[in-house]
Amino acid sequence: MAKRISLSRAARLVGVKRGTLQQKIRAGELTTFEGEIILADLLQAYPDAQFEDSSMLERVEQIIEQATFINPDTAVTRKPDNVALTSRIMSLSEELSRQKRLLGRYRRFSDQLAEEIERLAAEPDALPQLKAWLDQAMTKINAEDDTIDQSFVNETFLRVMSAQATVIPSNHEFFIEGAESILEAGLRGGLALNYGCSNGNCGLCKLRVVSGEVRKTRHHDYSLTEAEKGLGYILGCCNTAISDVVLEADEARGSSDIPKQNIPIRIRKIERPNRQVIIVSTRTPRTSRLRFLAGQRATLSIEHVGSGFYPIASCPCDDMNLQFHIAIDSQDPIASYLDESARANELLTLEGPEGSFVLNENSPRSLVFIAQGIGFASIKGLIEHAMALDVAEKIYLFWIADGDEPQYLNNLCRAWNDALDNFDYLALESEAGEHPADAIMARLGSDKAIDFDYYLCADDQLRGKLEQFVVSHEIPSNQFLYENV
Ligand code: FES
Repeated sequence: MAKRISLSRAARLVGVKRGTLQQKIRAGELTTFEGEIILADLLQAYPDAQFEDSSMLERVEQIIEQATFINPDTAVTRKPDNVALTSRIMSLSEELSRQKRLLGRYRRFSDQLAEEIERLAAEPDALPQLKAWLDQAMTKINAEDDTIDQSFVNETFLRVMSAQATVIPSNHEFFIEGAESILEAGLRGGLALNYGCSNGNCGLCKLRVVSGEVRKTRHHDYSLTEAEKGLGYILGCCNTAISDVVLEADEARGSSDIPKQNIPIRIRKIERPNRQVIIVSTRTPRTSRLRFLAGQRATLSIEHVGSGFYPIASCPCDDMNLQFHIAIDSQDPIASYLDESARANELLTLEGPEGSFVLNENSPRSLVFIAQGIGFASIKGLIEHAMALDVAEKIYLFWIADGDEPQYLNNLCRAWNDALDNFDYLALESEAGEHPADAIMARLGSDKAIDFDYYLCADDQLRGKLEQFVVSHEIPSNQFLYENV
C-alpha cells in the first residue's frame, strides 16, 4: 500500500506551512485520502525538497536537549548524551531504510525463484540449470544499488523524535517533542486548551486518550476516578505521548470560554525603546499562569498607585512570560510609576483577560496585520500566535509610525521578515502623505484584497480610511477586525 502521511508531517518533511499544502489541495495539485497525503505524491509536488538539510539535525539536537526522561516512581531524572543519541537515531533510521530496501529485493527474488522452479520442473537437467540461475540472480542482487531512501529516513526520524497529536472534535494538530507534556506542546502549538495550575493539582487539563500511547512524566495530586481512568482520561500537564495520539479535549472557541483570573505577577525588566513607550516584561508564578487568547487585554494594578487596562503583547504559547507595551502618559498613574519608579521583581496584580480582538483560527485565508504606533502591542500577540499555529500561507505586517518616532520594535519585525519565508513587513511613515490603503494595495495586489483577513489596531481616523478601502474592495465585514489603539 502506498505510504501515507498526515498533512502536518508532510509540511514538516518538505519545509512548508500546512496552509501552503492546503492551498495545493484546494487547487487540485495534491490529493488527500482521509486527511493524509501519499508520500510519493508529496515528493512529486516538491521534487527539490532538501532532505539532506542539516537544519533537521540541528532541530533534533534541540529536541533531545529538552528530552529529559523522568521516572515517576523514583523522581530520578536522566539526560541522554545529545550528540550520541542524535547520531544513533540517524544511523538507525538509515539502517532501517537499507534493510527495507534489501527486504524488497529478496521478496522479488523469492517470487522469481518460484517461477524458475516451476519452469524447470519438467527439464531433465533441472538442478544444474537452477544452480546457474541462482548464481546469476545472487550476483545481480549483490550488485544492486543499496543507497538509502532519504525521504524514508527523515520520516522515520521525525516519528522517533516527535509524536503527532490530533485533537477532536476540532481536528487541530500539534507535535509533542522530547518529554514535554501534552499541555505544554499543545500551548506551544497555538491551541487554546483548557488548563489551570499546570502541575497536577486542579484537574482542568483532563483529556481523553482516544488512541495511541501516553506516559506519565510526573506525579499529580489530583485524583482521577476509576471510571475516568477506565475511559482513558489523563492529565495533559502530567503526561507525554510516546506514539502518535488522538485526544478528546476541551478548547476555547472564543473569548467567552476563557475565565477571568486574578494573578500576582513580577516585573522582570522594563525597557525604553523610545521616548513614547515602555516595554514591561513580567512573569507569572509557575503554578498560576495566565490563560488567555492572543490579542486580549488585562488590567494591571499596583497598590497605592492605581490601575490601567493594557494589551498583552505576547503569545499564549508562553503563558508565564507576559509582555506589556505601555504609552508614557503623565495622566496614567501606572505608566508614570513604571517609567519612573518601578524596579525588577516588584509585584503587580493582573486581572483578566478581556477583549474579543482575537484571531479567527478557522479561516483558511492569509493574514494582513496593520498597526499604528503602540497598536503594535495587540498586533504582536496576534502575529506570534499565528506563527505558533503555523497555518497561514502568508502574513503581512504594515506598521504605521505614530508622530515622528520610528516603529519602536522595528528590529524585531525586520528579524521576522528575514527569518520567515511567509512573512512580509513594511514600515510606513505617518507623514508620508500616502494613503495607507494605497501602500497596502501596492504590496498585496489590488485584485487580491478579498483573499485576506485584516486585523487593524489604530485610531478612529485611520480606521475610517481603511473602512473605505474595505467597502470599495467588497471585502466581507467578518474579514476585517478592528481594535482602537
Ligand atoms: S492544569 Fe491543573 S492539573 Fe493539569
